[in-house]
Amino acid sequence: MPMHDAALLAEADAARLLAYAPYSRFQVGAALLAEDGSVQHGCNVENASYPAGLCAERGAVAAAVSRGQRRFLAIAVAGPSGVAVTPCGICRQVLREFSPDRLLRIVTRDAAGATVARTIEDLLPDSFGPEALGPR
Ligand code: THU
Repeated sequence: MPMHDAALLAEADAARLLAYAPYSRFQVGAALLAEDGSVQHGCNVENASYPAGLCAERGAVAAAVSRGQRRFLAIAVAGPSGVAVTPCGICRQVLREFSPDRLLRIVTRDAAGATVARTIEDLLPDSFGPEALGPR
């Protein structure tokens, strides 16, 4: 049975504690659940050269892919309490790369702290993906 949303969000909360965000002071954690049941964490890693900063979601994708995982079921994203955090546009595109059926679950919290689950298709409709390029 796939990991419960609440458990995945708890992993994202744990990942968030390691965020390096001295400039925005906006710490984010992500937990990415692969089809084999493994979970990889990511946190935002900012930089004195601001555009070089990395979002938590892309950190989690890099961690998972570098461990041989390319098929994912869900990603949970956790930010500061009281704020609705959803993946930025760049992260949506990166997540979509690994969701050919566009059913990847994106689990977040709304401003009241309630769990919200949507698919990558919900967050990035009519998207461009690797299938459009044909076999490589
Ligand atoms: N951030 C993430 O890591 N993930 C999100 O979903 C939203 C934003 C980071 C980027 C930057 O380090 C900080 O939050 C403020 O935008």
